[in-house]
Amino acid sequence: MPKPRILATHRLFDEATALLNANCEVEYWSHPERIPRDELLRGVKDKDGLICLLTERIDDDLLRAAPSLRIASNVAVGFDNIDVPACTRRGVVATNTPGVLDETTADFAWALMMAVARRIGEGEALARSGNWKGWGLDQLVGTDVWGKTLGIVGFGRIGRAMARRASGFQMKVLYSDAIRAPESVEKELHAEYRDFNALLAEADFLSVHVPLLPETRSLFDAAKFSRMKPTAFLINTARGPVIDEAALVHALETGKIAGAALDVFENEPVIHPGLKRNNVVLAPHIASASRETRTKMACMAAQNVLTLFSGQRPPNMLNPEVLQAT
Ligand code: DGY
Repeated sequence: MPKPRILATHRLFDEATALLNANCEVEYWSHPERIPRDELLRGVKDKDGLICLLTERIDDDLLRAAPSLRIASNVAVGFDNIDVPACTRRGVVATNTPGVLDETTADFAWALMMAVARRIGEGEALARSGNWKGWGLDQLVGTDVWGKTLGIVGFGRIGRAMARRASGFQMKVLYSDAIRAPESVEKELHAEYRDFNALLAEADFLSVHVPLLPETRSLFDAAKFSRMKPTAFLINTARGPVIDEAALVHALETGKIAGAALDVFENEPVIHPGLKRNNVVLAPHIASASRETRTKMACMAAQNVLTLFSGQRPPNMLNPEVLQAT
């Protein structure tokens, strides 16, 4: 039996590469720059499977260019880069990598929250600058995190991992979500449900953990910022377009909120120049970037492909209906 032909749009970690190479004929895009769109369209032409990143658009045009494609396996939990209904129409299985990055992402969201509250970026810059004149009573004074109110926007796996961390900091935990969590979960995590507007008004730190959907695009706009406390901070490790960046810049400039810490942006890799201010901590979309977790994500994406070609249902299907009849 010929091996399935796979295009991987990036080098994968060794464990994932070994898994794939043993069972498939794999073409890797291994140039330092991102795969250009025309190379992607050329590369998928004769492939049975695609392992892609969140930076590649998997849409009708691509699917049209890949008549033999059976699976698009995203190395990410977020899948707003994939037109899942288009995949379904063409009988292409779409998969993602849920579950393996929750704690790592929550760790990073926590680090961002600490960094913006305690002015770690500014402190680091001063310490490295050669201009530090020594200890000062009012030097770089920040805001306490412990004992404050954490507002979690989106109470899925990552949001709940944030809630668990909050108990060690004696924080009050509030959350909003389209679906209220079971009482047992609220109890276990000492988390109280609030509607979104109440959450905005009460939280000292708001941490965003919703997927990018039509209903969450620009969820944070000018009206929402004006409901927040002027002392509050916004942390985003979810997806950039959940926040209207121009409105955020305006809110920061006018003191509607105290600061922000962002790992994701509306038009990555472009960062709005108005965000480059002292009360904003910026990171280049690395919340899940621990070696352990990124390796797990790559292996999971490889397993999704291998499972399909071994005749079984991949564990992380976004459109299970594609294989319904089989
Ligand atoms: C994801 O998986 O969706 C993250 O944004 C990258 O890990």
